Amino acid sequence: MSVKEDVLRILNENKETYLSGAQIAEKLQISRTAVWKAVKSLNEEGYNILGMNKRGYKMSMGDDIISNEGIDKFLRKDVADAVQIETFKNISSTNTVLKQRAAEGEREWLILVAEEQTAGRGRMNRKFYSPSGTGIYISFLLRPKFLASESLMITTMAAVAVAETIDEILVQGSSLNQTTQIKWVNDIFYKGKKVCGILTEAAINVENYKLDYAIPGIGINVKAPEGGFPDEIKDIAGALIDDCDDKSVNDELRNRMIARLIEKMYDYYQNLEQKSFMKTYKEKSMLIGKTVYILDDETKEPLYVEGVTDRAELIVRHEDGTMENLQSGEVSVRLF
Ligand code: BTN
Repeated sequence: MSVKEDVLRILNENKETYLSGAQIAEKLQISRTAVWKAVKSLNEEGYNILGMNKRGYKMSMGDDIISNEGIDKFLRKDVADAVQIETFKNISSTNTVLKQRAAEGEREWLILVAEEQTAGRGRMNRKFYSPSGTGIYISFLLRPKFLASESLMITTMAAVAVAETIDEILVQGSSLNQTTQIKWVNDIFYKGKKVCGILTEAAINVENYKLDYAIPGIGINVKAPEGGFPDEIKDIAGALIDDCDDKSVNDELRNRMIARLIEKMYDYYQNLEQKSFMKTYKEKSMLIGKTVYILDDETKEPLYVEGVTDRAELIVRHEDGTMENLQSGEVSVRLF
């Protein structure tokens, strides 16, 4: 751990309490100047550490900067021991960088998390808007042992893990009474707006048709960006929290959410073949009982959604009464 990380840890453990420079210096066996320098540089990174003559330094509540220490504080020990987390202030795209690392032979459960992406990517070659300080941009390196045809299970599992994390941390026990919904195949909606997208990328070993790696990349709009979302996405995109000044909600919110999301991904992945997440996936599927059309279908034939299969296919009824299972890799649907 660097001096900066050590100072951050101590201030974090003593939130809202002043610690003198001498106290911190003694705990860490460093000079008071080194403490002062570490605090200065942390504040430049966006932390909110107050310094008062004679009293020392304190970390205020309401800080919500993504950091390894912040995540570790909330992460279950067995999971913390099994994963390797790297946090970035900014990055091109957590998926792009993790794909490179995967190709270089990195271990399973390397997780990259960023405060900001400068080249965030979405499905169908779209860009993913990833401003600083408001979202969670996270990618997981997995090396599943199953056939590539099963890879949709990773995306489905991730969608449920995100939806449950949001419900547990933000909705349950609060005055917010709506829970998240999943729009087939892997968009998370909250109060009618898309608050999370998932892009899973994989490499296949052509000798055995097994996956070499799968990288589910998750982008969550936690807080509304200042000035709102850009025009191109403002009708569809939403954030979980509109009031960014609410300190009680904000306190380390994103670190808490990241830790819970990692735990859920980890637990579901251990028993992936049991597909225990499919029950929640079906319950939360917002298209069931609705009428949709296939995006590329010029006739826009109305299709009634009857349900979702255990393989995450959408069960639809055509106008003539025939049934069909739609696969997400092949089609995209829109609500009528
Ligand atoms: C979509 O809605 O089209 C999928 C969006 C996926 C965004 C996440 S953010 C973390 C990871 N890195 C990326 O560049 N994309 C994914």
